[in-house]
Amino acid sequence: KKKEFRQAEVNIGMVGHVDHGKTTLTRALTGIWTDTHSEEMRRGITIKIGFADAEMRKCPNCGRYSSSPVCPYCGHETEFERRISFIDAPGHEALMTTMLAGASLMDGAVLVIAANEGIMPQTREHLMALQIVGNQNIVIALNKIELVDREKVIQRYNEIKEFVKGTVAENAPIIPISALHGANVDVLLAAIEEFIPTPKHDLKKPPKMLVLRSFDVNKPGTKPEKLVGGVIGGSIIQGKLKVGDEIEIRPGVPYEDHGRIKYEPITTEIVSLQAGGRFVDEAYPGGLVGVGTKLDPYLTKGDLMAGNVVGKPGQLPPVWDDLRLEVHLLERVVGTEEELKVEPIKRREVLLLNVGTARTMGLVTGLGKDEVELKLQIPICAEVGDRVAISRQVGSRWRLIGYGFIRE
Ligand code: GTP
Ligand code: MG
Ligand code: MG
Repeated sequence: KKKEFRQAEVNIGMVGHVDHGKTTLTRALTGIWTDTHSEEMRRGITIKIGFADAEMRKCPNCGRYSSSPVCPYCGHETEFERRISFIDAPGHEALMTTMLAGASLMDGAVLVIAANEGIMPQTREHLMALQIVGNQNIVIALNKIELVDREKVIQRYNEIKEFVKGTVAENAPIIPISALHGANVDVLLAAIEEFIPTPKHDLKKPPKMLVLRSFDVNKPGTKPEKLVGGVIGGSIIQGKLKVGDEIEIRPGVPYEDHGRIKYEPITTEIVSLQAGGRFVDEAYPGGLVGVGTKLDPYLTKGDLMAGNVVGKPGQLPPVWDDLRLEVHLLERVVGTEEELKVEPIKRREVLLLNVGTARTMGLVTGLGKDEVELKLQIPICAEVGDRVAISRQVGSRWRLIGYGFIRE
């Protein structure tokens, strides 16, 4: 019997402080090691967003969850529940904007906290990021429990309970695990099944894909007639895409106009589609989707198209060169050890903005009551009402200081 391939239907983020075990946990749940880039392997940290898909299966005999067709606990045949795409985010403080781009694609998240270190600056900052992008479906994994004694685990549990009070994670379950030894991961999976539902996807809406990466897949030296078009990777957040569809990409490609860089939307055709690593005719929300196009691969090499939005021509949100935001500032800078007070936004200051997978700089040109106007360095494609994460340079790093909603 031919097994039908299903695309992942839900994106679950792995977030938390550097080295707390996100990539190790992703492997424990999926069998896939997402740190594959040479610099990631050399430095031992996650640098790019990694995707790893796995089936969620339940054993009808013992009731435990795994990704295996045969129950690892009792040997009975398991039943398919759904396919999940885990989005492994980097925890390093310098990679916060990468984490934010990933966060915009997450339907839910596992906040990983190592029991030996407890709550650290990026534990706070990542939880704040989830809150800012509006993510409410959170499970907390208290990892590396084999490194500490029982009393410490209880102490960490109480610290976490205190920490999540009044946040979106207030009612998140806290599951003690060892990602390295695979201990208690079935309980974590059960919590994921209970607390992170598959979102309702309306496939009839106009498609919208947020671009996270892009490539030139041609080997150097390929003959011109053998060259294949540029490939764009991202996640569909609404609607569906089909091979043969005409698509528009916004804000598009940069060009020079009287010494200024401007952006122009481009249209092309989908010549191939990959979802979960397989070629498909149609792709839906959930997991990483690769779109083969007729674009000049020169335009898509080295993630040049990251931050763009893909949809049907004429059906995408507007492109903004200037933004007006309803602003909400945090009280404290959460990602630093000292938790400095957030000073009000000043005229002429430059802020870093994350909208979906896009990031841009904005020069503050106007200030009102709870409002700020910005001139953008790179335009963004977004809807009125969309959420914008706002960061400011504090010391040598960009730190999350608040969020806003796009106003007309
Ligand atoms: P970044 O992506 O760079 O933020 O790190 P990460 O959170 O993905 O951590 P990673 O999985 O790379 O693990 C960091 C280190 O912690 C590695 O040496 C892992 O082997 C170790 N580690 C992860 N989980 C466990 C665990 O449950 N127990 C122990 N003892 N070590 C663990
Ligand atoms: Mg990692
Ligand atoms: Mg990784």
